[in-house]
Order: sequence, then C-alpha cells, then structure tokens
Amino acid sequence: MIKIGDVTLQGNVILGPMAGITTLAYREFMKPFGVALSYSEMISDCGIAYENQRTLDYLKTSELDSPVGLQLFGFDIKNSLKALEIIENTAKYDILDLNFGCPVHKVTKTGAGSSWLRDVTKLKEYVEKICSFSSKPVTAKIRLGWDESSINVFEVSKALEEAGVKAITVHCRTKAQGYAGKADYEAIKGLKESLSIPLFVSGDIFTLEDAIKRVNITCTDGVMVARGGVGNPNLVRQIDHYFKTGERLPDATVLEQIGYARAYANMLIEQKGENLAIRELKGILPHFFSGFPGYKKFRLRFTMNMASAQDMEAIFNGIEKEVTL
Ligand SMILES: Cc1cc2nc3c(=O)[nH]c(=O)nc-3n(C[C@H](O)[C@H](O)[C@H](O)COP(=O)(O)O)c2cc1C
Repeated sequence: MIKIGDVTLQGNVILGPMAGITTLAYREFMKPFGVALSYSEMISDCGIAYENQRTLDYLKTSELDSPVGLQLFGFDIKNSLKALEIIENTAKYDILDLNFGCPVHKVTKTGAGSSWLRDVTKLKEYVEKICSFSSKPVTAKIRLGWDESSINVFEVSKALEEAGVKAITVHCRTKAQGYAGKADYEAIKGLKESLSIPLFVSGDIFTLEDAIKRVNITCTDGVMVARGGVGNPNLVRQIDHYFKTGERLPDATVLEQIGYARAYANMLIEQKGENLAIRELKGILPHFFSGFPGYKKFRLRFTMNMASAQDMEAIFNGIEKEVTL
C-alpha cells in the first residue's frame, strides 16, 4: 500500500488535476471506479489570499472525495503561506499539492507553474517553507524540465524530497512541449530507485496497456490518469483492477457509457446548476462516445444542439434507441 505521509492509498491509480474538469462533481463521479487519490484543479494562492469567492469555491470537497489533494500554484512565498493559512482554517482535505508543471504562459510569466523548474535552489527554499508550515503532507507535480536542453527531473525530485515533499508526480514532458509530442518515460528510468518517497507517472495514459507499459519502464508506485479518464471512467477501473489482480477487464459498452455519462451529467447539474453545467458538458459528454464508430452525429448533437437538460436527455435517448435497434 502506498503511504503519502499519514495518508494511506487503497490503490495505485490517482486522478490528475485538470483545470476546468476536475471539479468536485467530476472527482466524486470518478472515485468509485477505483481512484486512490484525487487532485483538485490548480488553485491560485493569490485568489485565496485575496479571498476571491470563485477561487475559494475550488476548495470545496466532500467525504466521498477523500483522500483528496488541493493543488496550489503561486510564485511568492508570502502569498502562498497566507493562502495556506486560509486553506488550513477552512478546507477539509488530506494533501496539499504544489504545481510546478503548468506550462501556460499566463502562469509561467509570473514565475509560477513550471517556471520554478528553472531555479532549483529557489524552488527548494520555497518548498521547505511550505512543508514546515503545512499540517498536511505536501506533494508536488513536476515536468521533466523547462525544455529539452535543461532536463533536470532527477535534480528537482531530489531537492523536493529533501525539502520535505512526501510524493512526486512527473508529467513526462518538458514545459516547452506543452501537451504535444510524446511523453518520454525513458527519461525517468532510475528515478524511483533514487528516491524514498512514492513516485507517480503522468502522460498519455489512454489505455490499460499504456499504464502497464509506463509502470514497467519507470517502476513508479502508480499512475496518474488525466485526459484518458475523461469520458472513459472504466479506464481507471481497468487499471486499478489489473494492478490488484492481474486480470484485464473489458472496455465499457455504449449502454454502460450512456449510464456513466448520465450519472456524471446529473451530478454536475446538481452542483453547478443547469445553465453552467450544460455549458461545461458540451465539451465533456462527446468524449463518452468517442471510441464508437458511427456516433459522430451524437457527439455533434451534444456540442451543437444541447441547450438544456431536456435536450441532453433527448440525445441520450437517441443513442439508446440506436443501440437497441
Ligand atoms: C485541460 C487540462 C488541464 C490541466 N490542468 C492541470 C492543473 O490544473 N494542474 C496540473 O498539475 N496539471 C494539469 N494538467 C496536466 C494533467 O494533470 C496531466 O499531467 C497531463 O494532461 C498529462 O497526462 P495525460 O496525457 O494522461 O492527460 C492539465 C491537463 C489538461 C489537458
């Protein structure tokens, strides 16, 4: 069993933080599929420190959500500690995660996200201060390095461990790659053996075979599923089940996918209200039917012809009819 500080995980599959996607509803929906630990989307330390209500809403968790990590991003220790004080006093969570991987210019230009990877000494000082302040175990999410010519994932991981971090996830791309190109797993071969804290691997895990291959190459304690789980929650179940039993479960059928999509949509509607939820669902529901040839027309209907929960139900009913014809 994996232990992150005093938090024990019941499996080896963790849910990757995704801004705009890993809401409380998404995390609650995914949990029963075998998620051992979820992370919130990245939360701005300034937003919390200035008590911006929209930012504070990201701190919402639930019992079902636990164990959950709240992911903070920032660039200034004063803001980060102020935010952490507020988080400690108001939020219910198990782990504090630090974002050192975000490649978005708006974030890196301030010195936050993957920008930290460029100065390991500064990074270590920052993390030491956070770790000594935090009452919860601190984890970190990093990339291989800033760009191809400055890959420093071994050095950064060691510094993070020495600073007090209790687990690390590596997205096996550089900042310069963004989300394009292939994740390079070979780059972290031997990293696990050089650390004494749990290590998770992230990047391009879209199938069970991807997960098995990544773990065989990297010897990490577990995998982080991000994009691959969106619209395919069964992927988490397949990976979790395989790691626990060595058995391969089948892919979900279209009918099962309809059930999953409906359940998730209703959870999101309940938490966010119909209007906002339907807007977000336009981008997410098509993923539930993307692996099925002939379903393009339904995927398009979610994006083009869905203005209400009633429209959504009509599309689900249409798919059900198609399946049972
Ligand atoms: C839309 C989107 C939003 C993301 N937001 C975050 C984030 O808030 N914090 C973070 O650490 N990583 C974030 N990531 C990165 C993922 O957690 C993950 O590391 C990355 O997508 C690689 O894994 P994948 O190929 O399995 O998706 C995001 C990725 C995507 C696609």
